[in-house]
Order: sequence, then C-alpha cells, then structure tokens
Amino acid sequence: MPKLRWWQRGVIYQIYPRSFQDSNGDGIGDLVGIDARLEYVSALGADAVWISPIYPSPMADFGYDVADYCDIDPMFGTLPEFEQLVIHAHQLGLKVLLDFVPNHSSKRHPWFEESRSSRDNPKRDWYLWRDPAPDGGPPNNWLSRMGGSAWEWDEHTGQYYYHAFLPEQPDLNWRHHDVRRAMDGVLRFWLDRGVDGFRVDVLWLLIKDDQFRDNPPNPAYQPGEPEHHRLLQTYTEDQPEVHEIVRSMRATLDDYGERVLIGEIYLPVTQLMKYYGAAGDGADMPFNFQLLNARWSAATLAGMIRDYDCALPKHAWPNWVLGNHDNPRIASRVGAAQARVAAVLLLTLRGTPTIYYGDEIGMTDGDIERDQVRDPAELRQPGMGQGRDPERTPMQWAGSLPNAGFTDGKPWLPVATNSSVREQDGDASSVLSLYRRLLTLRRSHAALVQGTIANVVANGDVLTYERRYRDQALFIALNFGVECAMVQSRSGVVVLSTSVRRDGEVLAAGTIPLATGEAIVASV
Ligand code: GLC
Ligand code: CA
Repeated sequence: MPKLRWWQRGVIYQIYPRSFQDSNGDGIGDLVGIDARLEYVSALGADAVWISPIYPSPMADFGYDVADYCDIDPMFGTLPEFEQLVIHAHQLGLKVLLDFVPNHSSKRHPWFEESRSSRDNPKRDWYLWRDPAPDGGPPNNWLSRMGGSAWEWDEHTGQYYYHAFLPEQPDLNWRHHDVRRAMDGVLRFWLDRGVDGFRVDVLWLLIKDDQFRDNPPNPAYQPGEPEHHRLLQTYTEDQPEVHEIVRSMRATLDDYGERVLIGEIYLPVTQLMKYYGAAGDGADMPFNFQLLNARWSAATLAGMIRDYDCALPKHAWPNWVLGNHDNPRIASRVGAAQARVAAVLLLTLRGTPTIYYGDEIGMTDGDIERDQVRDPAELRQPGMGQGRDPERTPMQWAGSLPNAGFTDGKPWLPVATNSSVREQDGDASSVLSLYRRLLTLRRSHAALVQGTIANVVANGDVLTYERRYRDQALFIALNFGVECAMVQSRSGVVVLSTSVRRDGEVLAAGTIPLATGEAIVASV
C-alpha cells in the first residue's frame, strides 16, 4: 500500500468561526479566539481545522457572500492574525483548510459592482445576465435555494442576474476564462500563505446549462418542502463541464505539493464518485454526506457503508461527515446515547472523518426564539425546517462562566449551558473523553486508518464490521436499538467501549451482550 497522505491519515475538525471563541467582546467569534483554542483542538486529537469563510463580507449569508477573496473580514481579524494562526497551527501539527466559495460572490464584490454598472462593462459576462422573458418576467423557471425565483431584476441595465442562493449572492460565470483565471489566483494567494487545502463550497453547482433551459417539475415534490424542490435541478447542477473545473483546481493544488481539495457536493453516490475525476485527477475528497440524513438503523447503515465502499473508484479515498453548519446536530438527530454510538461509527469507518465543532461534547441544536433567528434561509422561508441557527450556536467552553466562556459580550446566537468542555474534561464517561479515546485509538491502530473494511453486517439492531491491516484485526459492534442485544464475536479484547467499564474486557468466542446505545471496538 502506498504511503498515505496526511489528509488520509488525519481527522478534520470544522470550525464555524462566528461561534467558536470570541476574543474582543463583540459577541462574534474571531481568529484570535480560534488561535487561542488550537491547543484544545490539537489535544482532542484532530489533524486539521477547516474554517468556514472569514473573508470580507456583508454577512448576508454569514461569510458565504464574499466581497474580497484575498483578505480577512475585520470582524474576524486581520491577514497578519491569520498568518499567525497558520504558523501556530503548524507548530502544533495541525493543518489549516479554508472554505473557498467560487460559485457566487457578494453583490458588494467590486467584480459584481463593475459587472452591473453597464451592459458593456468588461466584467459584464463574469456573472450570468439574461434578458427578461417576452412577458417581462424572469428568463426561465430556475428557483433559488433560498426561496423565490433565482433571477433578480436589475433596473439600471434592464436585465436579470442569476443567484442560486440569495439575491445578495450573484453566481459567477464559470464558462468565462477570466473568472477561472481570477479564481485560480485566489487559490494561489492562500496556498502561498501556507494554507493546506480547501473545502470548496457548492462545487456541484458551478456550471449551469449554457442554453438556460427550464428545469423540469419534480414529480416527487411534497407540499411543505422548500420551494426549489418543486423542480428537478437538471440544468442547474452537476453539469458535465464542472469536472474540467475540478481538474484545474486540483492541478493548481498539485503545484504546491500535499494540499487537499475537498468538495461540498450533495449528490447520490454514483454521481458523487465522478468528482474524484476519471483518472484520480479530481477532488481528493468529495464530501460523503450520507450520514447526515440516514435512517438511523443498523440495516440502513450497513447497506450504505457497503455500497459506498463498492462504488469508490480504485484510487479514491473515502470520507465520512457526521455534522456541519447546514444540518441539525447529530445529538439532536439521534439523541444523546446514540450520538456516542455515532462517534464510534464515524471514527472507525474506513476513510477520513470530519467532526463538526461541539459534536465532541454532544452539543444539541440550540433553541432559537422567533426574534433570535439570524439565518437568511429561515428568514426567507419561515417554518420550512431550513433554519440553520440551531446548529450554529456558540461553543460551550465552561458552563460556570457567562455565555459558557464563549464571549464577554452579547453572543450573536444564544449560548446553551447544558454541558461544556470544562465539565466533561476530567470525566472519563463524558462524550468528550469518548472522542479523545477514539482519536487516540486511531493513532495507535493502523487498521482504523488504512485497514480494509469487511464483513459489514446488520443483525437486528446491531451493526458489526471488521477493520484489518496486516496482522491487525479490529471488530466493531454498535447497538442502534433501545434494547440489549446479543452479538456474535470472535475471541479478543475490548480496546474501547462507549461505557468505559468494558475497556480491557476479554471476549471469549461466542455471543456477547451489547447494552442499548453501546458500541465496542475489540482487537481480535
Ligand atoms: C453552502 C454552505 C452554506 C451556504 C451556501 C451558499 O451550502 O455550506 O452555508 O449557505 O453554500 O454559499
Ligand atoms: Ca469577536
């Protein structure tokens, strides 16, 4: 087996910068705050931090509306502070990944301001401008993912522009050579500053149909679903030409040695696999989001794990994501006990895991009162279940401190104080300790990092599988049910269990009990 690259061995930790640690009392997390918490992340056992956008932005979509790709928003800090953070992270052995948002800019980006200034501006075609339909309405039926038409009328130049998300986020025209060149410069700007890779925002949306054909209706649409689900995204996502762009991003990263290209892609597995590139020249890791909305049952997960492993192209490296800033938290999706089982699953499956900040202390979705809603997705389509504030509440550092130690000021979202890092720190039975033990176990067991996965089996509520590398074999058993279950095991020794008391237990070949919400890893 070829030597693994750092991102194949490593574990990624996602930081939502507004919510990690505030350093100046304005209630919003910042770079100095993140810097101060790098020791925590490194001691947890993660290998890389991915920081959601920190670029200058009007914050219409909290940084996913970028007004300058090559600077830091003053709210988060300064470029020198970022450079300091990278140096500090590297000293601790942590890699730093940035969020690259190439699909759209802010409407306040100078490129868009030029583009909309006149029809003959040289940057006009950097964005997607179209004449109105004969009735004066939008050029076609495309819908925004944040509700309403995806076309915004511009009075001044008498055309519409396309925005897959908010009207404040006009989509760039990736068919335009100059856009590609400018974005390539952006990647190099950060690579030159020591950034170890990127998570590319909505990678599968970059290219749209060049004939701007209407999207067909979605026959499976159910009333109450977000509006854009009314249509299939036939002409607005996953267009064949996107792969050439992925290849060129990858080539740029390859110029810099071991950097990683991760793609945010919400697509079924077969389509997802194409983003690895036909010759392994695409994204290093198209994010595998299947756990985010999987039915939480042994049978479903067993099928998913087997299918994913089978679908992977020969040289492709797998990855698993349990949570992120766009989806309800795992502890709220499956409950506190199963969130522990989920941790064992995430950190023993084959492939690079991504941990969402706070999941390691079992954070749940925050309660957001109506007048506390900040997420534009919720504000534009209230009650559609699209609101993402609950999973973005501030990190809970110390329950005894005001705002759990996140800020001295008024936090931008309410802070829950149900549990915190400090409370869980010395408690061997806490979720935090479980994460730490799992991450330590990964480091000491090559089978977990580079081993094969085999015998993935669901038996009732129990999922079992094996990880093997050379003469090392680990047996993993997870109970997804609400009752105790009996599991068939080989003889061995428990090297980790969700209920600490089983660590070190010697297993005789035969059936062993697994309590509800219990998972074990055994050396066999
Ligand atoms: C991605 C981000 C999400 C954002 C959207 C538009 O899906 O993860 O938070 O709203 O892109 O940039
Ligand atoms: Ca701050």
